[in-house]
Amino acid sequence: MRVVTIDGPAGAGKSTVARRLAERLSWRLLDTGAMYRAVTLAALRAGVDLESDQALGVLAENVAVELPPGKVLLNGEDVSALVRGVDVTRASRFVADSPHVRRRLVDWQRAFGRENDVIAEGRDQGTVVFPDAFRKFFLTASLEERARRRHAEFAQRGEAVALDVVLRDLEERDARDAARAIAPMKPARGARVIDTTGRALEEILDDMEADVRRGLVGQPAQEEDRREGPEWRR
Ligand code: DC
Repeated sequence: MRVVTIDGPAGAGKSTVARRLAERLSWRLLDTGAMYRAVTLAALRAGVDLESDQALGVLAENVAVELPPGKVLLNGEDVSALVRGVDVTRASRFVADSPHVRRRLVDWQRAFGRENDVIAEGRDQGTVVFPDAFRKFFLTASLEERARRRHAEFAQRGEAVALDVVLRDLEERDARDAARAIAPMKPARGARVIDTTGRALEEILDDMEADVRRGLVGQPAQEEDRREGPEWRR
């Protein structure tokens, strides 16, 4: 099926933009960060050693993460709110660094993309997971603006975290995401880079929707798309 990828650092506005764009196009949203978060929550609950790729891999093989519209399910339990907490957010970088976990989640993500027209949001969607995506975007914003947005999100959830702590966490997480050996965060070849600093959400959405719709004109029918699709499995 057709895939649009949206990658970029934390707080760049990806989640909101991806969700709203998916609504506008009536496509499914693939929130891959939520998948890493769900595995992180499972690891914290099970007391798994976060530094052990082996242990995290075994865990990831034995949990079920599902993304029905608007929800995150871990072994059938609705953990949508829990995975957004500060503890899960902090610990998620260990899980994101695990090659075992990444392999498992990439398989799930590609399976989701075979079944649905998707807006795939994450760090490696255009580079690794869907290199043949029909349109790729890389959203970014200044560190200060991204920290302000994340800080406001935590405050809205009733979690009091100082702005400078959020900023330092973001800086550290970005550096790790960009430097990691597998699936480092960077704009995919052919991706359009959009800086959302100081720009209104609706304006960005109008721009991206028009961009995608232009590309849809003259696209082959979905069935043909699937037959001619790339080799998803590695
Ligand atoms: O986008 P987010 O903050 O919900 O992501 C949660 C964590 O998962 C974060 O540490 C980055 C990581 N991640 C990743 O490594 N690859 C993805 N495709 C999506 C998220």
